[in-house]
Amino acid sequence: MGQRLAGRIAFVTGAAQGIGAGIARAMAAEGARLILSDLNEAGVTALAAKLGARAIRHDVASERDWADAAELVEEAFGHLDVLVNNAGIEMVKPASETSLDDWRRVMSINLDGVFIGCRTLQPLLAAAGAAGASASVINISSIAGLVGYPNQAAYNTSKAGVRHLTKSLAIEWAHHGYPIRVNSIHPGCIRTPMLELAVEGWIAEGSIPADGDPWTAIAALCPMRRVGRVEDIAHGAVYLASDESAFVTGLELVIDGGWVAR
Ligand SMILES: NC(=O)c1ccc[n+]([C@@H]2O[C@H](COP(=O)([O-])OP(=O)(O)OC[C@H]3O[C@@H](n4cnc5c(N)ncnc54)[C@H](O)[C@@H]3O)[C@@H](O)[C@H]2O)c1
Repeated sequence: MGQRLAGRIAFVTGAAQGIGAGIARAMAAEGARLILSDLNEAGVTALAAKLGARAIRHDVASERDWADAAELVEEAFGHLDVLVNNAGIEMVKPASETSLDDWRRVMSINLDGVFIGCRTLQPLLAAAGAAGASASVINISSIAGLVGYPNQAAYNTSKAGVRHLTKSLAIEWAHHGYPIRVNSIHPGCIRTPMLELAVEGWIAEGSIPADGDPWTAIAALCPMRRVGRVEDIAHGAVYLASDESAFVTGLELVIDGGWVAR
């Protein structure tokens, strides 16, 4: 591994498992110093110990928790180079069975959480960018934020909101001269604990067959004929965090094996 993020301070939410943990490992391997956050305190503390990172328990839907996170970053480092808004939840339910509470829960974590995080950490990101290379915000959306999928209207809508929030902040912060780039990543099917749960719902609703290996069935639906790995997303995140993407803002980086290119 190289040192593409040497000395950079990066904050990753939802880092206890899945894509967030993969991004944390890849950024650590490229020399970043990390603060890892998750609702799952034991999980994120265990990963942080392996990577020599700091860990905090953090609910991304809570303004108070974001204020505490900002205080920790400020005291420890004085600025922040990279913010990865990765934490999210899936909900597989037809719209007719989605209560307003269900809808609000998905929005509060997947969309409000990204907004609060960007707003709260913006001064620390601006401080980093002012000192040299631009700071970088990476918001994890989904291909479900680009096209519709059945029985997950709340999730799809939250992820479409993340896409547009990303473009709005990219333009607004460039307009104000803040040295912060803002981009979104749109993963396709990536094998993580979240996707394993979602697959159970897809089998139940008949989107993939109940007999046989569901992963073979999902791979067959993908133009590149495989299920994604967390490393596929982590490579994109390292690029967006590094100076290699210095002229990139407002981008939607689709990493999906060709799923939405059809
Ligand atoms: N796996 C996929 O196929 C896929 C595809 C597209 C987009 N995504 C997106 O990627 C991101 C990561 O997904 P994943 O598959 O790794 O999921 P995952 O469920 O495996 O991991 C998500 C992590 O977020 C944490 N989390 C959940 N709610 C939280 C909250 N309120 N505050 C803080 N942490 C919280 C969980 O504890 C968990 O550690 C999500 O935003 C998801 O929507 C995933």
